[in-house]
Amino acid sequence: MIYLDSAATTLQKPAAVASASAWAISHLASPGRGGHRPAMAAAETAFACREAAARLFHMDDPEQVVFTFNATHSLNIAIKTLARPGSRVVISGYEHNAVTRPLHTLGVDLRVARGGLFDQRAVLGDFRRELDRGVDLAVCTHVSNVFGFILPIEEIAGLCRERGVPLIVDASQSAGCIPLDFTALGAAFIAMPGHKGLYGPQGTGLLLCGMRPATLLEGGTGSESRRQSMPEFLPDRLEAGTHNIAGIAGLLEGLRFLERRRVERIGAQESELICRIGRGLRSIPGTEVFQAGDPAVQAGVLSFRMEGRDCETVGEALGSRGVAVRAGLHCAPLAHESAGTLETGTLRASVSAFNTRREADQFLQVVKTLSNTN
Ligand code: ALA
Repeated sequence: MIYLDSAATTLQKPAAVASASAWAISHLASPGRGGHRPAMAAAETAFACREAAARLFHMDDPEQVVFTFNATHSLNIAIKTLARPGSRVVISGYEHNAVTRPLHTLGVDLRVARGGLFDQRAVLGDFRRELDRGVDLAVCTHVSNVFGFILPIEEIAGLCRERGVPLIVDASQSAGCIPLDFTALGAAFIAMPGHKGLYGPQGTGLLLCGMRPATLLEGGTGSESRRQSMPEFLPDRLEAGTHNIAGIAGLLEGLRFLERRRVERIGAQESELICRIGRGLRSIPGTEVFQAGDPAVQAGVLSFRMEGRDCETVGEALGSRGVAVRAGLHCAPLAHESAGTLETGTLRASVSAFNTRREADQFLQVVKTLSNTN
């Protein structure tokens, strides 16, 4: 199997991730729920994971790293802390349903800073215009999950800071692939999954908190148990109920892998592979490739379409030939609308630190053969 669906979840993980999760199931109990050895060991593992994330994202306080179930969970907490019905909210034209559906449900006054695909300057100009018209909140993805477009998040964060507008960053496709500095960005929240570029297991996510969050879930935290309101302090305020400690133990190993390999190096490797794949696809007649002219604005994700062919059907055909890609709308209809691909969807190839040039070339060969068959 040539696995090119890491934008959905990374399937190939460092070996230590699975062994740490398996070990945790029979050795770690519930953090903060007892003074016995398995509970203490669980608390130590959870704290080590928070510390590793804080180092990776340049945070002073590991307790501002909150464990969630996935990026959608993180985004729901962040959005429901900062948006109310009628709030004026600016988003990019590349947001996922994990951002747009909560905003729609709340009934906000939504403004889209659409810009153009792979045109950072245009996106920035549209954000500036909307921020100057007056908004209460900005939400922006760092990297489009459909096109790999890297949005100018530092500059957008700067515009928000200058105007005192809180910013929520969706780092679902960038965490672990592009360096992110929480302290320098000054965002209110940064949301991310644990199971993509951080190489943790599914069922893990992180929310980096720059402000006091509202609670989405209430329940036991092992702290301030007499009170009927949730603790004010983090991470307990957001971590009601038993932790996914097996997931957290695996995520810790994913973060340790990133510390050893270095995010910059992984990003450069992924960028090289995506350039190679894009170049190869462009040479196949009848293939339309959404590739940035400047490789610096595209991460390890690339969309393409094959003339006269239904994307889902091609995706299935690739699957039956041992290639895993994702076809369709990728839960991001807004991104497709912005790029003009809403009617057809696209095929998406996305890479991780575990893909090789050889796999990229094998994939291209499969697409070429498929393009020659009726
Ligand atoms: N949002 C994930 C994707 O793009 C699941 O596939």
